Amino acid sequence: MTPILHTEIEQYLLQLNNQQSSHDTIGRKMEQRAARDDFPIVGPIVGTFLELLARSARATRVLELGSGFGYSALFFGRAVGAGGTVTLTDTSPALLEEAQQFLAQARNECVFEYLHGDALELVATLEGPFDVVFNDIDKEYYPEVPQHAFSLLRPGGLLITDNALWNGDVLKPTDAAAGGVASYNSLVYSHPGFQTSIIPLRDGIAVSQKMQ
Ligand SMILES: C[S@@+](CC[C@H](N)C(=O)[O-])C[C@H]1O[C@@H](n2cnc3c(N)ncnc32)[C@H](O)[C@@H]1O
Repeated sequence: MTPILHTEIEQYLLQLNNQQSSHDTIGRKMEQRAARDDFPIVGPIVGTFLELLARSARATRVLELGSGFGYSALFFGRAVGAGGTVTLTDTSPALLEEAQQFLAQARNECVFEYLHGDALELVATLEGPFDVVFNDIDKEYYPEVPQHAFSLLRPGGLLITDNALWNGDVLKPTDAAAGGVASYNSLVYSHPGFQTSIIPLRDGIAVSQKMQ
């Protein structure tokens, strides 16, 4: 396993991030819940980055593929604000129920929409355009995401993908998950309709903008 970011640098970024007033009680509660069961969430550094990206894109409609108990959605909810919508998807009804309970306690003024099922099937039932599509589903299915996201995004919209460096395993993929992430990265970088950059924060965030 290759550490993406030096541990001390990660700690330094975390300390800085904690000084931001936007990091509130509900966010901390959700982080404690994730730590208790070792549930993979984007964490506060990446969460803040997602919020900043979505707000910079003036997003009002965000679609999440793989929402878990709603931690990443909390940040998107802040970015879209009143009048905005964040659509959460997950194969687990229990996690979506938990997301609903957590997000009801958040100070977000947006609408949260909860869709149960396989995100790759649900996308066919959704009408675009979305300003942001956030991808965090099972890694072996990542290569299916760019085509769906491209048709759902508005020109200038962002496809954002978590775990784009997958513990460094993308360097020499030896299983389906690492292979899926590596193929995804090749697909978005070579896609003529996207411009992509991977930011090596935490486990790597791929940001792809749909070209105008
Ligand atoms: C890494 S967790 C999501 C964490 C969340 N994005 C966050 O940072 O707070 C991945 C979630 O995606 C869900 N999932 C995996 N594959 C999926 C699929 N094909 N469709 C919908 N949900 C999926 C899992 O049940 C799990 O809750």
